[in-house]
Amino acid sequence: MKQPGILLQQLVCWACPHRPRLGALLLLLFLSILAVSGAAIPTSLDGPFPPKTVAFDTSLPRGSEDLPHWHPRLVKRVPSIFPEQIALALSSPDCLWVSWVTGDAQIGPEVAPLDPTTVASEVHYGIQSGNLTWVSRGSAEVYSQRYPYEGLLNYTSGIIHHVRLQGLAPDTKYYYTCGDSALSALSEERWFKTLPHPSPNNYPSRIAVAGDLGLTYNSSSTLDHIMTNEPSLLLMIGDLSYANQYLTTGSKGASCYSCEFPNSPTRETYQPHWDAWGRFMEPLVSTVPMMVIEGNHEIESQVENVTFASYNARFAVPHQESGSGSKLYYSFDAGGIHFIMLGGYVDYNRTGEQYLWLKNDLERVNRDVTPWLIAAWHPPWYNSYSSHYREVECMRLEMEALLYEHGVDAAFSGHVHAYERCNRLYDYELNSCGPIYITVGDGGNIEKVDVVHADDDGQCPTPLDSIPEFGEICPSNFTTGQAAGKYCWDTQPEWSAFREASFGHGILEVLNATHALWTWHRNQDFGQAEHGGDQIYIVRTPDVCPNLRTRKQRRLRDTHLHDLEPVCKRKLNYLGSKNQLVYSKE
Ligand SMILES: *[C@@H]1O[C@H](CO)[C@@H](O)[C@H](O)[C@H]1NC(C)=O
Ligand SMILES: *[C@@H]1O[C@H](CO)[C@@H](O)[C@H](O)[C@H]1NC(C)=O
Ligand SMILES: *[C@@H]1O[C@H](CO)[C@@H](O)[C@H](O)[C@H]1NC(C)=O
Ligand SMILES: *[C@@H]1O[C@H](CO)[C@@H](O)[C@H](O)[C@H]1NC(C)=O
Ligand SMILES: *[C@@H]1O[C@H](CO)[C@@H](O)[C@H](O)[C@H]1NC(C)=O
Ligand SMILES: *[C@@H]1O[C@H](CO)[C@@H](O)[C@H](O)[C@H]1NC(C)=O
Ligand SMILES: *[C@@H]1O[C@H](CO)[C@@H](O)[C@H](O)[C@H]1NC(C)=O
Ligand SMILES: [Fe+2]
Repeated sequence: MKQPGILLQQLVCWACPHRPRLGALLLLLFLSILAVSGAAIPTSLDGPFPPKTVAFDTSLPRGSEDLPHWHPRLVKRVPSIFPEQIALALSSPDCLWVSWVTGDAQIGPEVAPLDPTTVASEVHYGIQSGNLTWVSRGSAEVYSQRYPYEGLLNYTSGIIHHVRLQGLAPDTKYYYTCGDSALSALSEERWFKTLPHPSPNNYPSRIAVAGDLGLTYNSSSTLDHIMTNEPSLLLMIGDLSYANQYLTTGSKGASCYSCEFPNSPTRETYQPHWDAWGRFMEPLVSTVPMMVIEGNHEIESQVENVTFASYNARFAVPHQESGSGSKLYYSFDAGGIHFIMLGGYVDYNRTGEQYLWLKNDLERVNRDVTPWLIAAWHPPWYNSYSSHYREVECMRLEMEALLYEHGVDAAFSGHVHAYERCNRLYDYELNSCGPIYITVGDGGNIEKVDVVHADDDGQCPTPLDSIPEFGEICPSNFTTGQAAGKYCWDTQPEWSAFREASFGHGILEVLNATHALWTWHRNQDFGQAEHGGDQIYIVRTPDVCPNLRTRKQRRLRDTHLHDLEPVCKRKLNYLGSKNQLVYSKE
């Protein structure tokens, strides 16, 4: 046990002029011991971890401006009738959504919606480049964003196309073009690789997780780093384009989430920002499926109390495939992982439709096929930063028990512009069978990184400082534990394992039915020899934490729970190994 002390003494002496060689040798030894111990990645079984905070690196600017719309990443590069803003999304396991935009959006005093029936929605695809033998057809729509106020401009979108490809083989590379062949307006060829089929032995290689991305220089850096990590799937946990930081004229409305638009009759939006964001994302998401869920910046209220018009029109999500009546919540499988995407800005009460859907969805999950159960929604339930502190307690109080009882392994959120990983917990108490909550709202948007903690001196917010943009507020002081009688902790809470204010993204690599490697990458580390960030094996312990609902669930499944009527039917049958395909007649 004396060794480290001795080493340190020698190190101090390394600076002494008379012992340079020995000192250098010992330093090397010391560093290599550090490197070896540093190389051992902790597992969640080593937890609960003592709370750790890494302070914001104040040498970095806390944020940056949005890219100008003339930036090469944002300009429209194809003639009007050609597809742009091409994006993929998962449907059911044999199916995939392809979405794109044609035609020109309009913004101004007098705008007339385009007719979506004037352009066909076709995807030509095949497994050989240049030989795209199959065709799928879909539908198209337009949306408008209108404000009934003098001086505000109205917007109407380009034609937004959604086509669902069916009968795709797993783990297979497909090439595709999209557009309208009759108009000779097909996109250049692209490709994607389908995910492996749901099974406890098959997982996507890397899943990127990002939140609150926006469209700034920091967002660009995050997106570049996600691409460098070559994910096979991208989870985008709300607050996408930040179009509602602008006036309808395109000039800045407000630069923070809670700021009112001072000289404006309503919170305006600049919808062309969405088109810019679609172009910004295209290089990644025209080849890797992106699964979005709504954040508060997607609400975008307009005339007649219409909300989420852009989100609903632009993104294809598998809500029908998963039995949900709303694009604001849905579920899907990615290999042996069942993902649940919840809506923080739509009724989450026990009496409501989302809760009923969630309950049914959880009861249908077969952990023998998809051992991993991962949830994601925008506003975090557990957050020790001042920003949005305990903002969605009402949602947590309604839904937490259901997720816990079904053994959710991990839950990702955004909203807070920083990183935080929690110890396993349930209802604010450490619990080795609770989910691991992770906040990754650090995509880089224009609102800047959040650096203040609720436990910092004098920084405990009041409930009125964190009013959610949807739903009630449920303020209450803690009744037990370290923070009993108070609204905030005095130090970093025991459930907060690691927090750091920096921009970046996460990568989840599920290795098998029990182990997944989670890595949080900071933007400032790319291209550097030294890396900060966070890394941990998330380990499931199904034998120690039996899914409390499993037995009941099996019984239910056997008696009256039927599989959903498949929305996207298989066209191919799989015989023997997954690569042998047999076409079925339909
Ligand atoms: C945000 O981007 C700016 C400009 O590229 C950069 O200087 C800054 O370090 C970034 N900030 C963070 C927190 O990454
Ligand atoms: C925008 O649309 C609203 C609702 O239809 C309408 O009341 C308003 O006059 C329009 N604004 C302009 C500038 O045309
Ligand atoms: C094109 O693909 C189809 C189906 O995959 C295949 O039957 C056909 O032989 C291919 N044609 C060429 C020229 O490779
Ligand atoms: C919009 O919502 C407000 C407040 O909920 C309500 O009073 C009003 O009647 C609604 N307007 C329309 C056109 O539905
Ligand atoms: C949810 O329940 C709370 C408390 O019962 C209620 O105040 C609120 O209006 C409900 N929200 C919705 C959307 O039904
Ligand atoms: C809740 O805690 C705050 C300080 O965190 C305190 O000022 C307030 O009086 C407490 N409220 C109740 C009802 O105990
Ligand atoms: C799962 O992966 C982990 C990490 O590679 C390994 O230690 C463990 O033995 C694996 N479990 C099984 C059942 O293969
Ligand atoms: Fe948010």
